Amino acid sequence: MTSWLPANKGLVSGLVALSSLLVTPTVAQDASPSTGGVVVNGTSFALNGDHVSYRFHVDEETGDLVNDHFGGLVTETVPMLAPQTQGWVEQIGRVKREFPDLGRGDFRVPAVRIQQAAGYTVSDFRYRAHDVVKGKPALPGLPSTFGREEGDVATLVVHMYDNYSSVAADLTYSVFPKLDAIVRSVNITNEGTGNITVERLASFSVDLPYGDFDMIELKGDWAREGMKVRRKVDYGTQGVSGRGMGFLLIYTGSFAVDVEKGSQGFIRAMLGLNPYHLSWNLGPGESLTSPECVATYSENGIGGVSRLFHRLFRNHLMKSKFAVEPRPVLLNSWEGLFFDYNESRIYNLAQESAELGVKLFVLDDGWFGNEYPRVIDNAGLGDWQANKDRFPNGLGPLVDQVTALNSANSSDKLQFGLWFEPEMVNPNSTLYHEHSDWALHAGDYPRTLTRSELVLNVALPEVQDFIIESLSAILGNTSVTYVKWDNNRAIHEMPSDGVAHAYMLGLYRVFDVLTTRFPDVIWEGCASGGGRFDPGILQYFPQVWTSDDTDALQRLYTQFGTSLAYPPSAMGAHVSVVPNQQTGRTIPLQFRAHVALMGGSFGFELDPTELSDADRRQIPGLIALAEEIALVIVRSTYNQPTPYLRLQGLDPAARYTVNGTDTYSGATLMRMGLQYRFKGEYDSKVVLIEKV
Ligand SMILES: *[C@@H]1O[C@H](CO)[C@@H](O)[C@H](O)[C@H]1NC(C)=O
Ligand SMILES: *[C@@H]1O[C@H](CO)[C@@H](O)[C@H](O)[C@H]1NC(C)=O
Ligand SMILES: *[C@@H]1O[C@H](CO)[C@@H](O)[C@H](O)[C@H]1NC(C)=O
Ligand SMILES: *[C@@H]1O[C@H](CO)[C@@H](O)[C@H](O)[C@H]1NC(C)=O
Ligand SMILES: *[C@@H]1O[C@H](CO)[C@@H](O)[C@H](O)[C@H]1NC(C)=O
Ligand SMILES: *[C@@H]1O[C@H](CO)[C@@H](O)[C@H](O)[C@H]1NC(C)=O
Ligand SMILES: *[C@@H]1O[C@H](CO)[C@@H](O)[C@H](O)[C@H]1NC(C)=O
Ligand SMILES: *[C@@H]1O[C@H](CO)[C@@H](O)[C@H](O)[C@H]1NC(C)=O
Ligand SMILES: *[C@@H]1O[C@H](CO)[C@@H](O)[C@H](O)[C@H]1NC(C)=O
Repeated sequence: MTSWLPANKGLVSGLVALSSLLVTPTVAQDASPSTGGVVVNGTSFALNGDHVSYRFHVDEETGDLVNDHFGGLVTETVPMLAPQTQGWVEQIGRVKREFPDLGRGDFRVPAVRIQQAAGYTVSDFRYRAHDVVKGKPALPGLPSTFGREEGDVATLVVHMYDNYSSVAADLTYSVFPKLDAIVRSVNITNEGTGNITVERLASFSVDLPYGDFDMIELKGDWAREGMKVRRKVDYGTQGVSGRGMGFLLIYTGSFAVDVEKGSQGFIRAMLGLNPYHLSWNLGPGESLTSPECVATYSENGIGGVSRLFHRLFRNHLMKSKFAVEPRPVLLNSWEGLFFDYNESRIYNLAQESAELGVKLFVLDDGWFGNEYPRVIDNAGLGDWQANKDRFPNGLGPLVDQVTALNSANSSDKLQFGLWFEPEMVNPNSTLYHEHSDWALHAGDYPRTLTRSELVLNVALPEVQDFIIESLSAILGNTSVTYVKWDNNRAIHEMPSDGVAHAYMLGLYRVFDVLTTRFPDVIWEGCASGGGRFDPGILQYFPQVWTSDDTDALQRLYTQFGTSLAYPPSAMGAHVSVVPNQQTGRTIPLQFRAHVALMGGSFGFELDPTELSDADRRQIPGLIALAEEIALVIVRSTYNQPTPYLRLQGLDPAARYTVNGTDTYSGATLMRMGLQYRFKGEYDSKVVLIEKV
């Protein structure tokens, strides 16, 4: 994800001054009736939040939708001077467009590209009608934000139509007024008699006025996810295939972000399906709906944008009942035992965990496969039955034994969790021998193996049903209350471009059925670490494993970057052994734990019997602290030359106690800050700030 902010400080303060003048008289000044933030005056539209306005209108001459403003709250539009056309760029290329199409003189990147049966790729979408809708309809088959109470969200649908190709485009805009968030998706319908191919479809496209902008992007790779990269938006196109720009796309599959500063100086920002993997055929009467994209606006910079995303996602995107609940402190068997275990060794590790106060024991990879036992990483994926050598009576007895254990000095029973990698298959598996056609492949091209795995074609309904039934057979017969859903390789050979999106629609169906069928399970997403940490996943899973890199120093960067877009409660963060397996660094246990405490799902990834006595003795206290702060966003401070730590996002007028002792106003804590002394490297403190 990325955020927009004007680089020019003067511009920032200019905006602040302007909006503080306009804060009180909100919608009332727009004389026409407002439906929860949507204001319509003829064919001029405004989506107003408490501090944001998004305004556009229909150009009478061209029928095009023209953007007037996206920024702080305003009450009317100052008309833009008609552009002067000279040279090659037509008038249409000199205005701020909402749904830029292709082939008529706008040379900036288009939001839609449709190939008609005759081969034409020109489009001419013009305004046809609009509807104001109460609340927000769900997107069929795709994850989407939702309102909970009346007034949370209102929706405007603008119907566009290309009279030459008989293609309709419905732009659905929703506004969450209290969260200053605008959401948009696009629905293309073929109303003609021939087939068309949608080659490109952006969910959101906005043209911002001339100005200096910086772009922040979260980049990364395995073991260094969520790294913040900031750059200036200059002339030309800057594309990223990582997380969005200023906006977040609610989608898990292949996507594209384009940011272009055109020759006129306007900046076009666009997010949507990746055109490299689309080519979506639509027969007569058929439709394609884009995922939705959320844009937030805040005058409090990146921190403000980030907090709006957190609130929106926790309350209006994540469906799991655990999203706003404290998660049990867990211990995962992987880094402690890897594939090297039998039933009694697993039970011993669970006992050890219980004695330390752990609440959830997770059995990771290695528990399944019979004809091709999963005792090594090149066999067994796809065969989701307990391995009979390791578990002669199935998983049931082990799960019963473990869940009969009391977590130390408490009446809580230990919970049991299990690892799966449902979208993958090893060629060394019964599944592959029976259904080699279920693996993604493009004709006779070699099926590229990664980690000895192939990807199942989840676009196929029979594959979706297989995954649903395999997991249901385990979850329906044992008291497993946590699932780690891993996904450790990328998609390679696809039979056709459209499979990329069809795969995601299939996967969303699987997620939807399973999470609805097993609502008491805590589902955790994981994709080679944080490779699939996105808002689409969060609709179904309340938490995601942030990175396989558990080195506490690297984690500070990854977790900070990830927290720009996602609530800390959604981040999985564990304490693992030192020297760290990824970086070789040795960092004290307390520092490792304090860093991991910044994630909502705290736990351990080690064999406690291998810890020093001193480290082992610290664990119960750290678990108690983790439980105390559970879902609070804790900012563990760390060694830095700047000694004042200024907090963000507090209520300036409220008073807060700092670790139960001193009391200060939010204004003081945000503008002056707190000071702490640290001893050497990797010293750390956890400070609890509570509103009085
Ligand atoms: C509605 O639009 C008309 C025509 O553009 C304009 O004259 C009028 O002032 C607008 N009304 C309000 C309340 O903004
Ligand atoms: C739409 O196109 C048809 C021909 O295909 C033409 O007769 C009609 O006038 C057009 N309508 C508009 C509103 O441009
Ligand atoms: C897309 O448009 C078609 C045709 O009007 C309609 O049937 C369908 O419900 C629309 N889908 C969405 C998500 O709006
Ligand atoms: C036209 O679209 C229909 C419906 O999706 C499809 O079955 C058919 O194969 C398509 N025809 C061509 C020539 O692509
Ligand atoms: C399980 O493994 C442990 C240690 O690796 C070993 O001592 C024990 O005998 C094994 N138990 C069985 C039933 O194989
Ligand atoms: C449980 O209680 C005993 C006795 O008070 C104590 O020694 C031990 O540290 C406690 N364990 C945990 C995990 O709190
Ligand atoms: C299948 O297992 C055998 C035996 O362990 C191994 O040699 C082979 O490489 C595996 N095949 C694949 C595709 O991983
Ligand atoms: C329990 O497992 C059996 C055998 O795998 C399966 O047929 C049955 O559907 C499972 N029960 C549930 C509730 O899923
Ligand atoms: C704040 O309180 C927590 C326990 O409530 C404690 O672990 C921590 O050390 C305290 N922090 C400071 C800086 O005293």
